[in-house]
Amino acid sequence: MTHKNTIIPVSLGHRSYDIEIGSGLLAQAGQIVARFLKRPFVAIVTDTNVAQHHLKSLEVALGTAGIKTASVIVPAGESSKSFEELAKTCDALLGLGVERNDVVVALGGGVIGDLTGFAASILRRGVRFVQIPTSLLAHVDSSVGGKTGINSRHGKNLIGSFHQPSHVIIDLDVVRTLPRRQIAAGYAEIAKYGLLGDASFFAWLETHAPDVLACDAAALAHAVATSCAMKARIVANDETETGERALLNLGHTFGHAYEAANGYTSALLHGEAISVGMVQAFKFSGRLGLCDKDVYLRVKAHFEKAGLPVDARRLPIDLPSPEKFLEIMRQDKKSVAGNLTFILARGIGNAFVASGIPDQETLAFLKEDFAAA
Ligand SMILES: NC(=O)c1ccc[n+]([C@@H]2O[C@H](COP(=O)([O-])OP(=O)(O)OC[C@H]3O[C@@H](n4cnc5c(N)ncnc54)[C@H](O)[C@@H]3O)[C@@H](O)[C@H]2O)c1
Ligand SMILES: [Zn+2]
Repeated sequence: MTHKNTIIPVSLGHRSYDIEIGSGLLAQAGQIVARFLKRPFVAIVTDTNVAQHHLKSLEVALGTAGIKTASVIVPAGESSKSFEELAKTCDALLGLGVERNDVVVALGGGVIGDLTGFAASILRRGVRFVQIPTSLLAHVDSSVGGKTGINSRHGKNLIGSFHQPSHVIIDLDVVRTLPRRQIAAGYAEIAKYGLLGDASFFAWLETHAPDVLACDAAALAHAVATSCAMKARIVANDETETGERALLNLGHTFGHAYEAANGYTSALLHGEAISVGMVQAFKFSGRLGLCDKDVYLRVKAHFEKAGLPVDARRLPIDLPSPEKFLEIMRQDKKSVAGNLTFILARGIGNAFVASGIPDQETLAFLKEDFAAA
């Protein structure tokens, strides 16, 4: 509460909004949210885990500011990003009397943000929503940028919309109730920002990762703010991902394929999959002569120290053959027919979109990497 809050603007014309970062913000949510309301009422969507830890505090904070609340609690987990849960959420929100001018609050991790944001985008042809992310991944990634959606049996995030929030409230204290493994997974996205575009931030992380992972207030504040600032800048330049925004997929072409091979169970978290994927992106870049051959070792050492997996063969999944893996990568929505597009790097902090990488190069790399000792 004594820390000054950091405000990061996301500049998107009439859809601009602020990301507000600080300690104890949940307790201040009443004053913060009040200025977006046409009447003193908000509907909150959250999940069973988050409700247990943080819903009461939010309700009290809003209540203290004279705001009435009603909540929808969905089951925790990725499977809530479904048509079924979307329908239930929309029905519940309508049942609570949510009107066109009301604000819906998403209190939770990326699953809640994506589901609630999508529900808000279609409810009464679009209502406003405020993100209160509670996982580290949601703090630095999913709560910012306006991508919302659910999964299909054809793949993840295939049904959705761009719907920017009206405000993002990041209370750094809430991640303290997050399981350690989820913190490490969220951390992978933080390191991603350094690797893709800010070498000095990555160097800072090399010293301070243990503090960030231990949720030290000052370290977390710096890491989250730096990450959000970079995402905000990239999104402002390329809201619908026609160019630069693709850089945020560093490590994700490989990573998504591990998640798909695993069937999206909790045996492998997204952050764990992209940790391996980012090491591979740097290794592949070295192999293609785009960057120094040994840079990947620095990336690998970093994620290893953070307690993240760095080696495909050690993942708790049945590793497909290189040929099958290439097929899976091709099915990712980010690939274009023909050769694959990767986010590769010329060095730490210097990623770029590399389209048309010949399949035989990718296959040769995968064979070597999956076989390496
Ligand atoms: N929209 C985007 O731009 C974007 C970007 C990245 C990821 N995503 C999506 O985000 C999702 C992953 O997000 P996630 O990792 O936050 O998953 P999640 O929402 O499932 O949260 C992870 C787990 O932590 C629990 N949890 C969350 N906050 C907690 C807290 N403070 N204390 C205790 N437990 C807590 C949740 O209940 C869940 O069990 C995926 O569906 C992914 O597709 C979206
Ligand atoms: Zn990601």
